[in-house]
Amino acid sequence: MAKALLEGKKGIIFGALDEKSLAWKTALRAHEEGAQIVLTNAPVAMRLGKINELAEICGAEVIPADATSVEDIENLFTKAMEIVGGKVDFVLHSIGMSPNVRKDFPYTDLNHDFFLKTLDISALSFHKILQTAYKKDAINDWGSVVALSYIAAQRTMPGYKDMADAKAMLESIARSFGYYYGKEKKVRVNTISQSPTLTTAGSGIKGFNSFYHYANDIAPLGNASADSCADYIVMLFSDFCRMVTMQNLYHDGGFSYALSSDEVLAHYED
Ligand code: NAI
Repeated sequence: MAKALLEGKKGIIFGALDEKSLAWKTALRAHEEGAQIVLTNAPVAMRLGKINELAEICGAEVIPADATSVEDIENLFTKAMEIVGGKVDFVLHSIGMSPNVRKDFPYTDLNHDFFLKTLDISALSFHKILQTAYKKDAINDWGSVVALSYIAAQRTMPGYKDMADAKAMLESIARSFGYYYGKEKKVRVNTISQSPTLTTAGSGIKGFNSFYHYANDIAPLGNASADSCADYIVMLFSDFCRMVTMQNLYHDGGFSYALSSDEVLAHYED
C-alpha cells in the first residue's frame, strides 16, 4: 500500500476558526495523510468553541496563542514539542485581520494605530513564529513552513486596503527568513497566494463577492477551492517539495497570469 504523504510527520497549524477556514481544511488533510498535529488560535477565537470539534476529529491538542505575542508563541512551541515528543516538521501560518478593513476605513484615510495592528497580526506574527522556532531549534531539518497570502500583494485591489501591504510584507518575510533558515537548517519557507475563498476572513472584505466571481471568470481553471488549497499545502509539507523555498506560489487557477477571459470580454462587445 502507498505510504501516506505525511506519515510520521508532526506539525503546528495556526488559524482554524471554523469549518470554512483554510487552516481547518488543511488540518483535516494533514491528519488524513498521517500527520500528528497541534492546533492553535488566538484565545478570543477559542471562545467560539469550534476548534475543539476539529481537535476531536484530528486527535489533536489545542494550545491558545495570540500570534502577536512572542511569549505566547514560545509557550506554544515548548508545549507542542512536549506533546509530539520532539521537534516538528511543518508549521502553517493561516492568520489575517485588519481593523481598518473591518471598520471599512478608506485606504486614503486609514487609522494608523489600526494599520500597525494589521501588520502585527497579519505579517509580523510570521516573523515572530519563525524567529521563535529558529531560536528554540523547534523544526526538524528539511521541515516546511507555509503562510497564506493574496494577489493584492502584487496587484492593486481596491477594498483590500492595508491587508495588501501586510501581505507584501508577509511574502518578503518568507524570502528573508527562508534564506537564513535554509542555510542553517534546510528548513523551507514559502507563501501560497490563494484565490478568493469564502471564509470568515474572506467575506469580511468589501466587494468580496463580486471579486470572487470576477476572479472565477478570469482564471482559466476557475477559483481554487479551500479543499484544493489544503491539498497544495499538504504537498508543500511533504518530502515531494524538498527543494522549494523562498517562493510565493500562486494557487489561483491561473488568475495571476490571465489578463482577461472570453466571458469578461463578452461584456464589452458592441
Ligand atoms: P479565517 O477567518 O477562517 O482565518 C483567519 C484566522 O486568523 C482566524 O482563525 C483567526 O482567529 C486568526 N487570527 C486573527 N488574529 C489572530 C491573532 N492575533 N493570533 C492568532 N490568530 C489570529 O479565514 P481564512 O480565509 O481561512 O484566512 C486564513 C489565511 O488565508 C489568512 O492569512 C488570509 O488572509 C489568507 N487568505 C484568505 C483568502 C480568502 O479569500 N479567504 C485568500 C487568500 C489568502
